[in-house]
Amino acid sequence: MEIINRRQRMSSVSRKVRRELDKTIGLVPTMGALHEGHLSLVREARRMCDVVIVSVFVNPKQFAPHEDFSRYPRDLTKDTMALSDYNVDYIFAPPAEEIYPKGFSTYVEVERLSEQLEGAARPGHFRGVATVLTVLFNIVRADFAYFGQKDAQQTLVVKRLVRDLAFDTEIVILPTVREDSGLALSSRNAYLEPEDKRAAAVIYRALSHAEAAYSEGERNGKKIADMIRADIEAEPRAEIEYVSVNDADTLERLDRLDDRSVLIAVAARFGKTRLIDNIILNKTSKTGQLVMP
Ligand code: PAJ
Repeated sequence: MEIINRRQRMSSVSRKVRRELDKTIGLVPTMGALHEGHLSLVREARRMCDVVIVSVFVNPKQFAPHEDFSRYPRDLTKDTMALSDYNVDYIFAPPAEEIYPKGFSTYVEVERLSEQLEGAARPGHFRGVATVLTVLFNIVRADFAYFGQKDAQQTLVVKRLVRDLAFDTEIVILPTVREDSGLALSSRNAYLEPEDKRAAAVIYRALSHAEAAYSEGERNGKKIADMIRADIEAEPRAEIEYVSVNDADTLERLDRLDDRSVLIAVAARFGKTRLIDNIILNKTSKTGQLVMP
């Protein structure tokens, strides 16, 4: 496993892998603080591809000024150790100026899909995500890039980005990895006080409750959202930011659930920590997204 810091070295290594060695490349983009969720992506990349590259870059452009960029957990030694068990070929861990050279002034905006849910709560977030992924995709030119369903809207934004700008990289989406309590793994769980961590399991309990109601025939989007709200509000440590019921492919808001795939997404705060989670109902969608472990 080699750790690469320079953009040029990363480009030339992957060019060589593709051209001279004729091997397939899998890229797993991360911001580090790796956990089993990230590692599930690495495992699948390892299974599918000849060469696996994990990028570790806490992308300043996807954080708003008041957000947690400066305190986001960073420990490359620990991440390297976690990846050493997975036979990863390269870790790409560039300093900011390698991704954003001096005078950087080109941004990628995925319109509409970026504007609601997380995009509304975090203006500029998906512009930062789409921009950094464009740079990473151009440096690495992977055959496959791996993303988690945990960040549902991000998966839609990335797929649209790749389609619209004709990147030659196929996007693979993998299910959300959870703790036994149901809490979705997240690097930000490290911020949670033990009591808040216990309390945060309410999110998935509420989503599972909604799924059960859906299986029993409930098709009223507002009723489903209200049910989730009531479950989460019963936990005094939780503060809901949004509960939303949307078409899982277009993010169009749904009042009446029909035969389309439905994304139910939640954002809530526990103390100062903001968590997101989601489930997809009626998975026979054209995205082919497999959800729920
Ligand atoms: P990060 O939060 O580090 O997540 C990296 C990848 O791991 C994302 O695709 C995310 O959806 C996935 N992931 C996180 N938690 C997961 C879980 N519990 N189960 C399955 N997958 C999970 O998402 C980002 O970084 C950044 O926005 C990035 C795409 C790297 C661009 O900067």
